[in-house]
Amino acid sequence: MNATRRQLLQTALALGAAPAFIRHACAADMDRFPLGVASGCPRPGGMVLWTRLIGTDLPEQVAVQWELAADEGFKQIVAKGTDTAEAAWAHSVHAEPAGLSPGRWYWYRFTAMGGRSATGRTRTAPAPDAAEPLRFATASCQRWDHGEYAAWRDMATQELDLVLFLGDYIYEYAASSAPAGATRRHSGGAARSLDDYRARHAQYKSDPHLRAMHARAPWIITWDDHEIANDYTPGRAQDLEPNFELRRAAATQAYWEHLPFPKSARPRGTETRIHERYDWGSLARLITLDDRQWRDPQACPKPGRAGSNTVYLKDCEALRDPRRSLLGGAQERWLAQSWDASRPWNLLGQQTLMARYSWTDPATTSGQYWTEAWDGYPLARQRLLGDMLAAKAGNPVVLGGDVHANYVADLKLDFDDAKSATIATEFCGTSISSHGLANDKVQSALPWNAHLRYARSDQRGYTLFDLNKQRLTAELRTVDEAMDAQSPVRVEKRYVVEAGRPGALTT
Ligand SMILES: [Fe+2]
Repeated sequence: MNATRRQLLQTALALGAAPAFIRHACAADMDRFPLGVASGCPRPGGMVLWTRLIGTDLPEQVAVQWELAADEGFKQIVAKGTDTAEAAWAHSVHAEPAGLSPGRWYWYRFTAMGGRSATGRTRTAPAPDAAEPLRFATASCQRWDHGEYAAWRDMATQELDLVLFLGDYIYEYAASSAPAGATRRHSGGAARSLDDYRARHAQYKSDPHLRAMHARAPWIITWDDHEIANDYTPGRAQDLEPNFELRRAAATQAYWEHLPFPKSARPRGTETRIHERYDWGSLARLITLDDRQWRDPQACPKPGRAGSNTVYLKDCEALRDPRRSLLGGAQERWLAQSWDASRPWNLLGQQTLMARYSWTDPATTSGQYWTEAWDGYPLARQRLLGDMLAAKAGNPVVLGGDVHANYVADLKLDFDDAKSATIATEFCGTSISSHGLANDKVQSALPWNAHLRYARSDQRGYTLFDLNKQRLTAELRTVDEAMDAQSPVRVEKRYVVEAGRPGALTT
């Protein structure tokens, strides 16, 4: 079939307009896998393989074959199976091969309705006693209408073992909220229904650089607010809209449908399992947190609204309430038991800046804080750091996103005391594309946040890490021209954390 006819038929099928005989005659010519493939949650014996079938002519249930091979040419197939893609779950596939060899690369692909997906590359985690190094990247906040994905393009050339994605995979905003000069816009209004959120995920996956990075290495993923709605807390949207839980359940379902999460994480209403522990051989434990599903509402919101605010500590009693939690009691207890004293490194993948960041001088104003991040839950932060210390977690490194800026910080039990020991290192990475705060405002607050070793909010990019037993090296890689997908990407700063010595050093 020539390209024009195929294109016409695909358009007709997408619109549901093709008569039945054409649908059957030409189904095999359609690309059933335009959203690509992905893998995630690597374990020593397996991982999750993901794809989603597309087409308005799909039956309720479709049998999808998956194959996993030891070579890119699929000559040596080591595992295969059939999963059922169901209309009720957007014809997504979450295949879970098991019994694989630890610490090695594999290639995978899907076949359904006469079509075949692109090939993805993935790997298993090393065996528990293997002392393999780990090369990975953190990324977050890829708002579609704020910029192009040069960061993903660059990351795909880096030969990573895994990607750690730390939230804001999609943004829920309407096309009309695109900034002046946007090179692309969201389709339609603000996402509210299941169809809206599915379409939004599909729009993000229409970017070839994002698809390519998914096909290149396994991802470990957590979410933040925009996968659902800005600044939400359970049961409560920022603007206090009615029936918010229906919207949250729709967004949660679409989120699971479009990412390589296991079947066990399939949502029940608004609930899904995001927080997890992963081990990388004998080198590192990686823990991911969920800061959305169980958080207490933000302290001291603006009148008539919910969500974040920026407030003086002295004016906001709730900030001093020890009962308030960002993770919820059960996840806090789970985390306290998840720190690993036997492995040299503990990596904590969570959503936002953990270091205290006061916008005014705490010595004269009591401090002024943004209530959405850890600064809005300061006693919960202190509990977390205290538990980490009590558990003797080996070399803890906190990895975050959310604030659309690069921050490198020393974490302390008492941020007001410059002599308080540094007990962990933090790399809060900038956004893939989402705009940050004015950089001069960020710089102006540095004098009274001395535990921050670096802060810059006007650059987009990601952070590349190399970890071995002795040290963690970090490259803050930034995009020259955020509106150009072909932009050069360069190393803005390079840091090293030596084992046994918390705090990042410049190299
Ligand atoms: Fe964001």
